[in-house]
This record gives sequence, C-alpha cells and structure tokens, in this order.
Amino acid sequence: MSTPTFDAPFRETLNDLLAWRRDVRHFKTDPVDRDIVLDCLKTVSIGPSVGNSQPWRFVLVDDQNRLQKLTELFEATNAEALSDFAGDSAKLYATLKLAGLKEAPIQLSVFADIHTNVGRGLGSRTMPETKAYSVVGAIHTLWILLRAHGIGMGWVSILPPDAMAELMEVDPTYKFIGHLCIGYPQEQTLTPELVKAGWQDRLPFDEFIIER
Ligand SMILES: Cc1cc2nc3c(=O)[nH]c(=O)nc-3n(C[C@H](O)[C@H](O)[C@H](O)COP(=O)(O)O)c2cc1C
Repeated sequence: MSTPTFDAPFRETLNDLLAWRRDVRHFKTDPVDRDIVLDCLKTVSIGPSVGNSQPWRFVLVDDQNRLQKLTELFEATNAEALSDFAGDSAKLYATLKLAGLKEAPIQLSVFADIHTNVGRGLGSRTMPETKAYSVVGAIHTLWILLRAHGIGMGWVSILPPDAMAELMEVDPTYKFIGHLCIGYPQEQTLTPELVKAGWQDRLPFDEFIIER
C-alpha cells in the first residue's frame, strides 16, 4: 500500500468532523448496523496505547435485563449526584438529560485491563494510569469514526465503577472507563448540550495555552 497523503480539503473535512462530533443523549429509534460499530472498533483497536498494551475491553451489551439494571444504577447514581447541588444549580441539573440508556440501540461498556502484561509494563511504571488513558483515547477515536457514519455516541460516567464490572461479569480487576450509548442522533448541531442548557460554556481558547 502506498503512503497516503492528507491534503488541505481532507484536513478541512476532518476539522468539520471534529467540530460536529457531539455527546448525544437524544437518539432516534432507527436501528444501527452492528457491523458498522464492529468495523469502527476494529479501527479503534489499532490506536495508540502505552507500551502497545492494547488494554481496551469492549462489552457489547444486548441483554435487556442487564440494560434494565444498568438504567437503575444510573438513576440511583444520578439522584445522588443531584443531591450534591443546591439552589439554581440543582434546579438546572434536574432538567438535564445525561444518558440515552433507554433509547440507544447499541450500547458498549468499556473497561481497561490495567493489569495486563501485554507490553511488559513499558511506559506505565511511574504512571500506571496510562493504561486507562489509552482506553480513553480509544473511546475518542470511536466517537469520531461513528460520527463519520452519521452515528452519535454518548458517554455515561454517572455510574458506580465496581458495580459495573460486576454487572457486566468481567474480570473484577478491570477498571471501568465508561458506558457508551450509540445511535442516530435526533439532531446535528455544533453546540454541546451543556452549553445550550446554560450549564457550562466553552472557555476561551487562550486559557488552555501556557507559555514558559
Ligand atoms: C470522560 C467523560 C465523561 C462524560 N460523562 C457524561 C455523562 O455521564 N453524561 C453526559 O450526559 N455526558 C457525559 N459526557 C459528555 C460531556 O458532557 C460532553 O462531552 C461535554 O459537555 C461537551 O459536549 P460535546 O461532547 O457535545 O462537545 C462525558 C464526557 C467525557 C469526556
């Protein structure tokens, strides 16, 4: 295979793709072709990981009982999260839709095998958390690949990690990274939902750059 070149129009399209990626909680009921998701996961699995440890583990959750229990876990955890807020923040939080667990036709629970010997520990001796970071990077790649198919994804972190490993019946030493709701989005927009809702605006770009 000859080395591809990525030209200016491609870069522009890629920028558009990144700008139009959204965290989606409002899904259409249309089904999503599971093979598209599996193809995307295949591409994701050639992504970067510390020491090439490839610690991502994706649980495709179809079982309705498990999904029901997951929804109950989310609702209980979200109610606890709400109780951390008071006044206007509590009122606004209560209006936010923070997961599409009941609607998303494809759902993935993602874990990191943080004790894997694959890669022989290279790169993670002083920073064991890099195994989890590798999985976070993989999730972002999946977000982008799915969006290129017009498919939306929502990351749900309002869940208890230990209970997730138990519910998904994975090795209890796996670290829960996030639950992903996947489906066709009800709307395409450049504006994040939390910005629209008045919860949190985007910060000015120069706040992110530190020069020394
Ligand atoms: C690690 C992580 C955890 C997140 N957890 C949740 C969540 O539990 N519920 C939710 O509605 N959104 C969650 N989000 C989505 C963020 O709220 C969203 O990315 C942010 O508001 C910016 O919106 P955008 O992704 O549409 O640009 C999470 C995002 C990340 C990266």
